[in-house]
Amino acid sequence: MSAPTAKPGLWTAVRELPSNVWSSVFRNPLPSTDLERAQTSFTNFFLHLHPVKVNRNTLRPAYTLGLGLISLFLFLILVVTGVLLMFYYVPSTTQAYDRMLDLRGTVAFGIFLRNMHRWSAHGMVAMVFLHMCRVFLTGAYKKPREFNWVLGVVLLLVTLFLSFTGYLLPWDQLAFWAITVGTSIAGYAPLVGSQMKFLLLGDTTVGQEALLRFYVLHVAVLPAVLTLLVAIHFWRIRKDGGLSRPESKPAADAGVVKIRIEPQKRVFGLQGFVRGPFTKIGNVPDDSVYSWPNLLLAELFVFVLTVSLILVVSLAFNAPLEQPVNVMHPPNPAKAPWYFLGLQEMVSYSAFWGGIGVPTVFVLLLFLAPYIERDPKGVGRWFARERLLANTVFLTLVVLNVIFIIVGTFFRGPNWTFVSPF
Ligand code: HEM
Repeated sequence: MSAPTAKPGLWTAVRELPSNVWSSVFRNPLPSTDLERAQTSFTNFFLHLHPVKVNRNTLRPAYTLGLGLISLFLFLILVVTGVLLMFYYVPSTTQAYDRMLDLRGTVAFGIFLRNMHRWSAHGMVAMVFLHMCRVFLTGAYKKPREFNWVLGVVLLLVTLFLSFTGYLLPWDQLAFWAITVGTSIAGYAPLVGSQMKFLLLGDTTVGQEALLRFYVLHVAVLPAVLTLLVAIHFWRIRKDGGLSRPESKPAADAGVVKIRIEPQKRVFGLQGFVRGPFTKIGNVPDDSVYSWPNLLLAELFVFVLTVSLILVVSLAFNAPLEQPVNVMHPPNPAKAPWYFLGLQEMVSYSAFWGGIGVPTVFVLLLFLAPYIERDPKGVGRWFARERLLANTVFLTLVVLNVIFIIVGTFFRGPNWTFVSPF
């Protein structure tokens, strides 16, 4: 019979409290062997979202440019600052603007909070767009990642809509007229245009109903939808075999399994032992590294960089706040938010084609791209020669959009006439 173990005394329990609490949360010590690195990825909820190992190529900063991660971190900053802003904001046409003034004047760090939220929102629109460009230009949308690309296009649209709904909330002249212009573009859609506009505004013009609808969409519906879609997006990355990468070249000794027996330093060759898609043994070089600490450090670096940049920009520049809404005095010209200025510029040539026709064709092309361009060559490399045509078409459309946005932002004056900003 084994001797009963002594019950630890109170003093021992107190002394060991920190280490016991720590080990009850984190079951493994900081990993120092490969087995422990794998276990750490398995047993920690957040790390469990990562695979145990990732391909070395996908960690190269020059490949992804970290744009997807930056988009994610900006979204997280938006959620945190957005929730804090909700403690002060009231979605009422009589109070919203005053609350903005309070944030500026009386709430501790209020203006800083608003700056962070505003600049992160603009940043997220830009980064999600650039992330889409990186995915296209590296051919990463092709089989088996077609569906994740489609999800990505939906994510881009939701991000734009999320930013658009937030634009109205300060209830100043900028907000009111930008949304008036933006929603009138939606009204150009044939047959359903005016119904869609009414559904969005809850009225025929922008007013209290619109403010409430935009608020609910902005703080509840769209963030929830985006969170769910991002979760599926990440899950798909793993199911699609990790990030895209150039096809690994078979090793010179493919099909030959070498077993090295250390003490005797003897090498045996087993001809034709393993064939097929076994990446570990002989067929292709094993380019994978453990997620802990390689991927984790890369993520931490991007996180610190993103947060630091937003902090610096928010310290240096204040989010705009113009005069309170005056429905009798539209600014001339009234401009949509910058990311819709390309549309507004096109609308100035043709309301239907600029506002509805061209954007619809563009979005449809985006959705269908992986199902139209199916040649598996040139995946995992920037500007691969094999994808010259697809990349040229895509870049032409992107550059045109950017040019229209620049013209709309800087070169359009009263009555949408051409002016020089210089
Ligand atoms: C809220 C928006 C988005 C977030 C947070 C997000 C996040 C990410 C992250 C973290 C990655 C892995 C690393 C990287 O490429 O940076 C990724 C990969 C990917 N994303 Fe996104 N993404 C978003 C929107 C989009 C959009 C708009 C598209 C395309 C239209 C897209 C398509 C893809 C594809 C196909 C991959 C796999 C790429 C590969 O295998 O190389 N994503 N995304």
